[in-house]
Amino acid sequence: MTSVLFVCLGNICRSPAAHGNFLKLLADAGLNSQVRVDSAGTGDWHIGAPPDERMTAAAAERGIDLNPLRARQVTPGDFDDFEHVFAMDARNLEDMQALAVGRANQPRLYLDLVFPGQRREVPDPYFGGAQGFEEVLDLVEAANQALLRQILG
Ligand code: 4NP
Repeated sequence: MTSVLFVCLGNICRSPAAHGNFLKLLADAGLNSQVRVDSAGTGDWHIGAPPDERMTAAAAERGIDLNPLRARQVTPGDFDDFEHVFAMDARNLEDMQALAVGRANQPRLYLDLVFPGQRREVPDPYFGGAQGFEEVLDLVEAANQALLRQILG
């Protein structure tokens, strides 16, 4: 079994979207018992909280259920426990690289899955309008399709 951890800043917008979308892709492919999936935040402000209600609503429109998810903070042990660890933006990546020193697996920039070498980031939608949440879901769908192909192939 392989394992995937999605990480953003708060673990209430971007990484839960990636988490919920990937669970759905796996379920649709009959592969949910093959991959362990989780998400976390580099920050501690929202520990124990459900995803942002704007993200939960936008995801539900696409058949993705974020209601069961609760925020947690990423730990150094995550880089031993999860084979694939993805950072939503460059700041997340830098914060995680400090935690991952000497660990088995190192964080990678998530959108490198679809835009290799371009250092593209998933924009933080927290302080913006509704369109930001749709953009996150579009990017997540594309990146997770690529991730699924990579894991399968
Ligand atoms: P996320 O978005 O990192 O995609 O979960 C944010 C959520 C909360 C905050 C910032 C970003 N915050 O400052 O509380």
